[in-house]
Amino acid sequence: MLICRTVADLRAAVAGFRAQGDTVAVVPTMGALHAGHLHLMAQAAAAQTRVVATIFVNPTQFGSSSDLAAYPRTESRDLDLLDRAGVDAVFLPSVSEMYPDGDQTIVETTLLANVFHGLVRPGHFRGVATVVTKLLNIAQADAAYFGEKDYQQLAVIRRLARDLHIPTRIIGVPTVRETDGLAMSSRNVRLSPEDRAAAVCLSQALTAAKSCTTIDAMQAAIRARISAEPRARLRAIDIVDAATFAAATGPLTATVGIMIAAEFGPPDNPVLLIDQTEVSP
Ligand code: PAF
Repeated sequence: MLICRTVADLRAAVAGFRAQGDTVAVVPTMGALHAGHLHLMAQAAAAQTRVVATIFVNPTQFGSSSDLAAYPRTESRDLDLLDRAGVDAVFLPSVSEMYPDGDQTIVETTLLANVFHGLVRPGHFRGVATVVTKLLNIAQADAAYFGEKDYQQLAVIRRLARDLHIPTRIIGVPTVRETDGLAMSSRNVRLSPEDRAAAVCLSQALTAAKSCTTIDAMQAAIRARISAEPRARLRAIDIVDAATFAAATGPLTATVGIMIAAEFGPPDNPVLLIDQTEVSP
């Protein structure tokens, strides 16, 4: 596995792959890798001959310097996992490599960045859009892989790639699920066996919503399924237009994203689980 710390090194590595006639996937991450990231690597490897992972804890997408400082950094473990996953090259740039001295260019999806999660995390999606644009330009891969779990992030990335005519295909990878439908998450291990069994109500609520033809009916179906589970405390149901992230209302006439969150376990130390899906008319 090649380890590249500069833009020039990564470009040389990718040029080497292309010279052999290989196609290239890029999988951007911030490190602290878990099973979800390895699933992205596997999906990338199944479709392209070479996989480039990037590990960069991007300062511009954090709201505060304490959040940034607290972000886990597990470089040697991450490199070991990527090597064992068969990744061909890893890009591990410094902050000054990514944001060269005097850097003043930002990328912002002006509507998508400032609704929904963007309202509670001002500047976050601008930071994501800026760094992902840089990473796509640096890697010049055929396809880039992102989890559907970060639903608004994926919408922002699809939009910037479209608007800026970036030729890399943006591939959303569906959330990995346990056999009963529960979305895999590093938080699931904190559930008691009873809560683990109850947590299946999230994916079941989404399945129920998929057969509805109005947004009100979707809300009602989700509430009914989650309130039928005494161990679950519903925290959020957000149904948004998939293209704009404006709150969806009325009959289902365009693709919507449904995002739900529910808490399990003791109220003083709850486990918050999220799940999401898209529904088209
Ligand atoms: O999802 C992430 O880990 C990050 O937001 C990303 C896409 C790597 C950009 O820093």
